[in-house]
Amino acid sequence: MTSPPAIPVVPGNLSGARGLRPPEPLPPSRQLPELIRKKRDGGHLSEADIRGFVRAVVDGSAQGAQIGAMLMAIRLRGMDPEETALLTQALARSGQKLEWPEAWHPHLVDKHSTGGVGDKVSLVLAPALAACGCKVPMISGRGLGHTGGTLDKLESIPGFNVVQSPEQMKLLLEQVGCCIVGQSEKLVPADGVLYAARDVTATVDSLPLVTASILSKKVVEGLSALIVDVKFGEAALFPDQEQARELARTLVGVGAALGLRVAAALTAMDSPLGRSVGHSLEVEEALLCLDGAGPPDLRELVTGLGEGGRAGRDRVRARASPAPPSPRDLR
Ligand code: URA
Repeated sequence: MTSPPAIPVVPGNLSGARGLRPPEPLPPSRQLPELIRKKRDGGHLSEADIRGFVRAVVDGSAQGAQIGAMLMAIRLRGMDPEETALLTQALARSGQKLEWPEAWHPHLVDKHSTGGVGDKVSLVLAPALAACGCKVPMISGRGLGHTGGTLDKLESIPGFNVVQSPEQMKLLLEQVGCCIVGQSEKLVPADGVLYAARDVTATVDSLPLVTASILSKKVVEGLSALIVDVKFGEAALFPDQEQARELARTLVGVGAALGLRVAAALTAMDSPLGRSVGHSLEVEEALLCLDGAGPPDLRELVTGLGEGGRAGRDRVRARASPAPPSPRDLR
């Protein structure tokens, strides 16, 4: 039987509506060992393979061992830009896409960091951008590897709730202009599972997995612009600057393929950012910074990233990056 002709996916459209090919039958979870073997042996995963794996992750039919094995296969064998974009899209589609009033669209922005010790920039930058009239619907993460997570830092505030429904997020954006929330059953649930699994399977420092994890959250947010702070050095996920540069290019390229305007700033992180490390201490330092004080390196990074990465020591912008990947069905 011949397969139907591929219908191009509309970049950034996760609604499952016009422009998307009809859902293909996905492989049952008993075929997961086959998918794992394919990637383990250096093969290329198809859209159906990737969607099948992500569906099994979300519906609970994938065993923890299978998830860990697939993550390790990806960590060791890598993914090309097409696979990375398809994984990003599948993770984003595992939950709901956030919808905002038309008038907000030009103002919807966000920043995400690849993670570093003492990195409390989001705690300062989200409210600072909101004070400038932006709308910041930030979906953030927990600690990964030796780097701290924004959600864990916020939870050091008694009663702080990082699980918010899309309706509550809209209310927060109306009232305060920003919110910082975590993955949930409704928001990128597949990233929630893979994120936690990566942390305990030594698969955090994988370029395609970091890219898909970050961009899936940002695609769901429905942004008009995103800046990613790609850190390198001893206090970051990637010690090596060249790897960080490659990650920055991948983030910009895959983002473009999915209709996301992404800029990336490479920032050195050989020592912790600011003076404090530890969840509640970092919240205190972030509050100081919001009051106009706080350590100069933190203030400089917040204002630099807020300006769109201009203060980053090295920048990779969409227009300066190599041509974005043009996977067959993501053009
Ligand atoms: N932030 C994320 O959301 N995911 C990663 O993999 C790294 C940093």
